[in-house]
Amino acid sequence: METNELTFERAVTLNNGIEMPHLGFGVCMMPDGEVTSDSVYVALKTGYRNLDTAAAYGNERGVGDGIRRAIAGGGVARKDVFLSTKAWHTERGYEKTLAAFDASMDKLGFDYLDLYLIHWPANGTWHEDWRELNADTWRALEKLYADGRVRAIGMSNFQTKHLEPLMETATVMPMVDQVEYHPGFGQFETAEFCHENGIVVEAWSPLGRSEVLADATIGNIATVHGKSPAQVCIRWNLQKGNVPLPKSTHVERMQTNADVFDFELTAEEMAAIDTLPPIGGMMFDPDTARS
Ligand code: A2P
Repeated sequence: METNELTFERAVTLNNGIEMPHLGFGVCMMPDGEVTSDSVYVALKTGYRNLDTAAAYGNERGVGDGIRRAIAGGGVARKDVFLSTKAWHTERGYEKTLAAFDASMDKLGFDYLDLYLIHWPANGTWHEDWRELNADTWRALEKLYADGRVRAIGMSNFQTKHLEPLMETATVMPMVDQVEYHPGFGQFETAEFCHENGIVVEAWSPLGRSEVLADATIGNIATVHGKSPAQVCIRWNLQKGNVPLPKSTHVERMQTNADVFDFELTAEEMAAIDTLPPIGGMMFDPDTARS
């Protein structure tokens, strides 16, 4: 990607032609109600248009509320917001996933969704029938997509070994895979498979849950550019061609996290960040994590 094309307003085009804003805002761990609603409202006012939640975060009502407040305040329409949520482990399987989607939409309070994701793959460590379980869940997403209830479908935390069998039986190819991806934990192999197969990679915890921000290499690069470590982490992800989803409950951080379009990391700086040792975030292995 030509990095000088990067702007806050830029969108990536998914493999079905739908546009997804390439800098998103995550709300994992935010308490439902006022905190989430206020954060989402301020994020939209700040210019974020890609909002990512999940049934498991327990804050879909707050997200819907924040969006409605921003719409009521003017300047944002529902069609300008790219809204994602996810089906949890307990909601796998065709019928259960359809019901889970209805429950999520009820909480969000909208009549369509932009992106619905399977939150984690059923894996072979915990499920003998993991392939069938993932395929059945995917069929539900295909049905929701065919019915026009969701504009794009995908998964989260799937590695190549989970994606390949699913893609063998899928009739609609996944558009997005959202994985943990930050300095010290770039899932390069999965990302490469996704990029080769027309799947956009979203990055959760692009700041490594803030632990990466104390790293000396990141700090030195930030100093060179007159930027913060958080801005370097986000910029690195964008230059990787991913869609990062930083989260913050602080207005000033939301603003500075989006102020990443007036500098560019050099090839040497990118490589130095690529080769950092494991650091920050959750670093779960989706193939063994309890699923
Ligand atoms: P807070 O909500 O208090 O701002 P990640 O997106 O990688 O999961 O990281 C989220 C964590 O990083 C949150 O604890 C958030 O805290 C913190 N955070 C977000 N933006 C910044 C920033 N610019 N500087 C420092 N910490 C940040």
